[in-house]
Amino acid sequence: MLPLKRRIFFKKIFEKIPTPFYFYIADEIRKRISLLLRNFSPQIEIFFSFKANSNLEILKIIRKGKCGADISSLGELFLAKKSGFKGEDIVFAGPGKKEKEIEEAIKENIFSINAESLTELKRINSISEKFKKKTRVALRINPTPSSQNSALLKMGKRETQFGIPEEILFEKKFIKEISSLKHINIEGIHLFSGTQILCPKEILDNFKYAVSLAKKLSQFFPINFIDFGGGFGVPYDYLKEHTLDINILSQGLKDILRKDPFLTKKRIIFELGRFIVAESGVFVTKVVDVKTCRRKKFAVLDGGINNLLRVSFLRENHPVINFSRTSKKEKFTLVGPLCTPLDILGEDVKLSSPKIGDLIGILNAGAYGFSESMPYFLSHLICGEYLYDEKKVFVIREPLSFQKYLKFCKKRIL
Ligand SMILES: Cc1ncc(COP(=O)(O)O)c(C=O)c1O
Repeated sequence: MLPLKRRIFFKKIFEKIPTPFYFYIADEIRKRISLLLRNFSPQIEIFFSFKANSNLEILKIIRKGKCGADISSLGELFLAKKSGFKGEDIVFAGPGKKEKEIEEAIKENIFSINAESLTELKRINSISEKFKKKTRVALRINPTPSSQNSALLKMGKRETQFGIPEEILFEKKFIKEISSLKHINIEGIHLFSGTQILCPKEILDNFKYAVSLAKKLSQFFPINFIDFGGGFGVPYDYLKEHTLDINILSQGLKDILRKDPFLTKKRIIFELGRFIVAESGVFVTKVVDVKTCRRKKFAVLDGGINNLLRVSFLRENHPVINFSRTSKKEKFTLVGPLCTPLDILGEDVKLSSPKIGDLIGILNAGAYGFSESMPYFLSHLICGEYLYDEKKVFVIREPLSFQKYLKFCKKRIL
C-alpha cells in the first residue's frame, strides 16, 4: 500500500496525466526481484510470467533483474526476444499451441516447450523432425487429487484443459507411446499448482509433490529440470489477507533442496507473475458521477472493466484510495462507464467520499490489469501506461484513440 507521503507526491503527477491510465513504479518491481534472489537458494531461477504484465518496458526491467521468461504465445515470444531474454531462459507453456508457435519456439532454441497433451507432444515431435532437431520438452502434469497432495486439491480436483492427467501419464501404454517419439527429449516436468497462494506451507507442499512426480518420471526419462509454477500471492484485502512470508518459504525450500540428493544439479524454475508486478502498479481513474440507487452509493468512473477486468470476474476487490481527499471514509461501489452491471471495479469499498473530478486509485493493479482486460467493449479509448523510474515519468504505452483502432477495411479475399 502506498504510504501517505508518496500518495501526495504521486497525486501531483497523476493530475497531469489524462485518465484513465496505469502507472507503475519501477523500483517496486526491482525490490520484489531482489527480495526473491536474495533469499532463495541460487539453484532456484525466477522466470517471469508474461501473462501478468507484458509491457515491453516492464519486461526490460525484469530482464535486467536476471529473470527468465515464461511465455504462452507467439506474441509473448516476440516480446521476450525484443526485451532481451535469451532462448535458454525461455519456457513456453499453455494449451493449444499452434504449429507456427511451436516452429518459432524451436527456431529460437528456447529452453523448454511444456507439452500439455499427447497430441501436442506428437506435434512438437513432427515439427522437430522437419527441422532435423531434437527438442527439449517438459511434461505439464495435471495432478490427481489425493490426500497425499491435499494442497493441490484446489487445482487437481477440477477437470481442466491444462496438462496431462497424472493418472494417464504413468500408464505403461502412455509411457511407451511418448518414449517412441524420437525427435523430442523429455527432460523436465511442469506443474502449476494454483495462483494467489499466501501460505508458505501450501507452496512447500506443492513443491514436494512436484519433486515426487519428477522422481517418478525419472524412472523413464532423464529428468534434468523442474518447472514449478509458482503462484505466489499478494494481499488484495488487507483485513483478511497478509503478505506471503518469503523468509519461511525460502528456508523451507533450502531444506528440501539440501536434504534431497535427487535435486542436486537439477535446474529449478519458479514461474511468477503476480508477486513480481502486482504491487508496483496502480490504475488511476476519475469520478464522472456520484449517485445513490436504493441506498447503495455509487461512484461512476471514467475507467471500467474495459481497462481492468479481474475485479469483476473474480469478485475480488483491490485496495482503493481517493487521491483527491482524506475525508471520512464511506462505503461506495465503484463502477465504470460500460453498459453492463458487470462493470464493477470495487463492490462496497471504503474510501474517502468521492466527489466528481476526484482521482481514484485502484492499487495492486500491476498484474493481470492491462493484460487481462477487454479493451474494445463500447469503443472507449484504450488507456495508456506510464512508468516512474529514476525520478522521471515515462509513457510506456500511448493511449490509443478509437480513431486509430477503429480502422476498417473491406477487400475481397476469395
Ligand atoms: C502455467 C502458469 N505459470 C505461471 C503463472 C503465473 O501465476 P502467478 O501470476 O500467480 O504467479 C500462471 C498463471 O496463470 C500459469 O498459468
